[in-house]
Amino acid sequence: MSLRGLDQKIIVVTGAAQGIGAGYARRLVEEGSTVVLADRNRDGVEATASSLGGPGKATAYQLDVSDRAGCEAFAAQLTAAYGRVDGLVNNAAVFSTIRMKPFWEITDEEWDRLMAVNLRGPWLLVSALLPLLRAAESASVVNIGSDAVQLGRPGYLHYVVSKGGVHGMTFSMARELGEFGIRVNTLSPGPVYTEVARETVTPQQRESMIRAQALHRPAGPDDMSGMAAFLLSDDSAYLTGQTISVNGGLVHR
Ligand SMILES: NC(=O)c1ccc[n+]([C@@H]2O[C@H](COP(=O)([O-])OP(=O)(O)OC[C@H]3O[C@@H](n4cnc5c(N)ncnc54)[C@H](O)[C@@H]3O)[C@@H](O)[C@H]2O)c1
Repeated sequence: MSLRGLDQKIIVVTGAAQGIGAGYARRLVEEGSTVVLADRNRDGVEATASSLGGPGKATAYQLDVSDRAGCEAFAAQLTAAYGRVDGLVNNAAVFSTIRMKPFWEITDEEWDRLMAVNLRGPWLLVSALLPLLRAAESASVVNIGSDAVQLGRPGYLHYVVSKGGVHGMTFSMARELGEFGIRVNTLSPGPVYTEVARETVTPQQRESMIRAQALHRPAGPDDMSGMAAFLLSDDSAYLTGQTISVNGGLVHR
């Protein structure tokens, strides 16, 4: 049996050109949702959307989530195309391109750009899409956090701070949006390994974290997408304001 209601839903996934975001989009298409994939990387998002079946199932949109005008133009397009948005996965982030370094070597420009995408982005996009989320009967927003926050992972302080902010954003957004029937939760992944090479984990850290997990195997995008689908479905209708860690038992809340 599939998750309730997903086959009737219009769902936006940001950062869906690659990695875990593409995995969320794939799972939602499999569940019968109409998925809008939004990403700064135009070629990447178009290729991913067409691999998922193209318009009708998966539509690509180029969007920089840190740009207010871009978010508003995106909302206008969705209004014309669908008139409502049932679900939003705020997944886009500066992540795989980060170079690990001591925090005192992070430049102002790196700090500001990362915060603009990882923190301002989800806030701007929920704000721009609010009329569309309200137009849906029971919309669900899934903010993507990170268990790097509880781990206090070294080497990318700006990122850890941004995801701590996302966790806080969820708590307050859930309270402010509850009266409109909109749920807001954080899916907080532990380390996930995708097709994209990244510098935010060394081979030694990767092995020691897998050993420290209760489940001694690396996670892939498919390990995250079931929880996202659940949080977007009507099966989680009474769940809001929560942070759900999906980490193979690496850390406990
Ligand atoms: N991979 C992990 O181990 C892990 C762990 C915890 C949390 N996360 C979070 O999960 C999410 C996905 O991770 P991933 O490994 O797939 O990352 P990734 O870096 O491979 O993918 C990020 C995607 O976001 C897009 N993007 C970047 N800036 C953007 C912007 N301004 N506007 C729109 N799109 C933009 C990129 O083009 C890319 O497609 C991120 O929020 C990340 O922080 C990842």
